Amino acid sequence: MSLSREQMLVEMGVAPLWVLRDQAKPQAAGVAPEAPAVAPAVAPAVAAPAIDVEPPVRAPVQAPPLATPEAPRARPVMVAGSAIAVDALDWPELKAQVAGCRACGLCEQRRQAVFGVGDQNPDWLFIGEGPGADEDVQGEPFVGQAGKLLDNMLAALDISRGNKVYIANAVKCRPPGNRTPEAAEMAACWPYLERQIALLKPKIIVLLGKAAVHAVLHDDKSLASLRGKPFEYAGIPVVVTYHPAYLLRNLPDKSKAWEDLLLARRTLRERATPELPF
Ligand code: URA
Ligand code: SF4
Repeated sequence: MSLSREQMLVEMGVAPLWVLRDQAKPQAAGVAPEAPAVAPAVAPAVAAPAIDVEPPVRAPVQAPPLATPEAPRARPVMVAGSAIAVDALDWPELKAQVAGCRACGLCEQRRQAVFGVGDQNPDWLFIGEGPGADEDVQGEPFVGQAGKLLDNMLAALDISRGNKVYIANAVKCRPPGNRTPEAAEMAACWPYLERQIALLKPKIIVLLGKAAVHAVLHDDKSLASLRGKPFEYAGIPVVVTYHPAYLLRNLPDKSKAWEDLLLARRTLRERATPELPF
């Protein structure tokens, strides 16, 4: 049985819920540990069973209408203190601008801005809150404990970071003490994320936790009330789910997060092949 298949059973709750695959292994400093662990799990042979095991999670009885929680905002294309219009930047220029950005106070204590990582032509875009201590050191999103859980979630979907997946954050610089980013900080950083989305053109966006929801959908309702419903941003379907760090503290909600990921996958497949009745 392939790793991915085992993982799937774990994720489905048949085996213990999401466990940290590398928990016992010390993490090599400066090395992102996820790629070797996840890469073998991606095998075309297991893609079909993944579809077969989907039915235990029930689709909503009636397809809810796409909810658009807000009217389109005026596009903030300038970052404070910068004379450069962010929406004119290509990928390398955007990356360079983020690396040197001082548009909000989070620049003061960061070691480095964390731009994002993954496939630049992705199906999936996962958006978290902001870098933590490990990410601040390594310069890559979700490389700490929450990141290991995220990698396991991706493996359960037969995807992995860098393979049809891009991972970014609502703010690019670590909030001191890992506090939640303030609304003003998310607003300052938004043009970068906005431009990343425009350039990446993902087919589905998964918002991990409240900060990401606030940044992209400008909705402050509880996560429990937002998850499980389809949203849209700039014509791209959006699914809301719990942040992996929250899931590490609230194990029973992992099954809900798994349902959300399956909703995202269904939505992606429906969009990819709209003529097929799912
Ligand atoms: N939590 C996040 O929201 N993002 C990261 O990159 C790491 C932890
Ligand atoms: Fe700039 Fe965003 Fe970092 Fe603030 S968090 S300094 S806006 S890159």
